[in-house]
Amino acid sequence: MLVKTYGYAVYGIEALPITVETNIGKGINFFMVGLPDSAVKESHQRIKAAFTNTELKFPRKEITINMAPADIRKEGSAYDLTIAVGVLAASEQILEEEIADYLIMGELSLDGGLRPIRGALSMAIKAKEQGFKGFILPKQNAREVSIVEGLNIYGIESITEVVGFFNKTIDLDPFQYVADDDAYDCSEFAIDFEDVKGQENVKRALEIAAAGGHNILLVGPPGSGKTMLAKRLPSILPQLTLEEALETTKIHSVAGLVGENRGLLTTRPFRSPHHTVSDVALVGGGSNPKPGEISLAHNGILFLDELPEYKRQVLEVMRQPLEDRVVSISRAKMSVEYPAGFMLVASMNPSPSGNFYDPNDPNSDPEYIVKRYMNKISGPLMDRIDLHIEVPAVRFDELAKGPKGETSFTIRQRVMETRKIQEERFKNIPKIHYNAQLHSKLIEKFCRIDEIGMAMLKNAMDKMGLSARSYARILKVSRTIADMDSSQGIAAHHIAEAIQFRSLDKNNWLE
Ligand SMILES: Nc1ncnc2c1ncn2[C@@H]1O[C@H](COP(=O)(O)OP(=O)(O)OP(=O)(O)O)[C@@H](O)[C@H]1O
Ligand SMILES: [Mg+2]
Repeated sequence: MLVKTYGYAVYGIEALPITVETNIGKGINFFMVGLPDSAVKESHQRIKAAFTNTELKFPRKEITINMAPADIRKEGSAYDLTIAVGVLAASEQILEEEIADYLIMGELSLDGGLRPIRGALSMAIKAKEQGFKGFILPKQNAREVSIVEGLNIYGIESITEVVGFFNKTIDLDPFQYVADDDAYDCSEFAIDFEDVKGQENVKRALEIAAAGGHNILLVGPPGSGKTMLAKRLPSILPQLTLEEALETTKIHSVAGLVGENRGLLTTRPFRSPHHTVSDVALVGGGSNPKPGEISLAHNGILFLDELPEYKRQVLEVMRQPLEDRVVSISRAKMSVEYPAGFMLVASMNPSPSGNFYDPNDPNSDPEYIVKRYMNKISGPLMDRIDLHIEVPAVRFDELAKGPKGETSFTIRQRVMETRKIQEERFKNIPKIHYNAQLHSKLIEKFCRIDEIGMAMLKNAMDKMGLSARSYARILKVSRTIADMDSSQGIAAHHIAEAIQFRSLDKNNWLE
């Protein structure tokens, strides 16, 4: 007897339909065809053990499993349940009639229990699109996919439950999404900008970065509050839209990082990989590819604390995704893509000793040492960072008795206003939502400055010895500053402020 069951393969963050055909014929044998990898092939053993331990019969006949289409590689152990249900139906241990209405995925353990799978959210969205009535999957994944409406979600604990469900001997209730324990509310943050005393200049820079989506580098001595400030950045970014939340959750789901009790991600991700991170962990990949940190940070922030400590070659692999906002990972058969639209926030000390360079201070590092330290970070990477800001140490009296700062809530209101102006300006330009995304052609179009502004910019660049690459950065940042001012044109004082944020280009620190 031939039975069809349905599952999905996940490539990048897209789910592709897979049909599992199970045929039982004369003889004793087990064949599995249709490009399964070794983990899929091993499901034979897991299913056999699970059946034995739950008093189901593994047929002593010739079983042929075909996974179609044959040109898509099937990876991992999530097809165990799809195949097991096929075998059970083909050997008439369960009723076949309703099986085609359900997407069935899950990894079996030897005792018949189920283990969570990766990519369940992408699968659920696709299942809804394809008109499946329900999705049978491990209980641990139920919450994660419950956001998808119009699809019955059955989170199950063991193969016995699936048998009972199809044989109608037990009633399973679809998983109910409880709205108020996972409210779609992005305004809750444990940390707030009001805790940061002083540092008005740095806060202003962070607000500009948030308003225009610019990458930013914080440079300052140890203890000046760089880490503290960076961690507060998500609290002033605009709330995630539902679409963004879904996309980011899909990526976390593919990485297997959505916990049992978590549904949709409600706050922008803040990822801060340690400086020992490998290139695969940072950008993604591996033999059974997973998204890396840059994709987990999609729609949020990637924070690289102590930037010069990272291996140069690891940072270099980030260059292409920083430009394209997506990362392609080449595989033997096909390449997979993961979204990687993140804001890069980096921090570093200004010199190996940790202090700003001061030619008059005999204790500070000599200039050539500082230069060598700065140049641990390549020019092309530095090129992709729009704002550099010096974070001075806060004086003790300011820390001790200074008033509380502005709240994140207030700052975020302004950021959202500025984002609205940008959305409106770029509404007819595909894939551009905010100023940081502008490339050279669009900079020419949208960041025009008048002759007075141009003369001032040229003068400042010459005097300060700013490199040519700062030019485009300054224009983009001045566009954001003008937007924060609700100004149509870019005025000289907007440019003047933007120039201040190129401190590392000054004095030719960077080669
Ligand atoms: N402006 C500030 N307002 C309030 N507290 C501050 C401020 N700056 C620093 N602190 C306090 O100092 C601590 C150290 O700051 P933080 O770790 O962010 O410094 P850092 O610049 O990242 O240092 P390092 O280079 O050593 O990593 C913070 O946890 C905070 O308690
Ligand atoms: Mg720090």
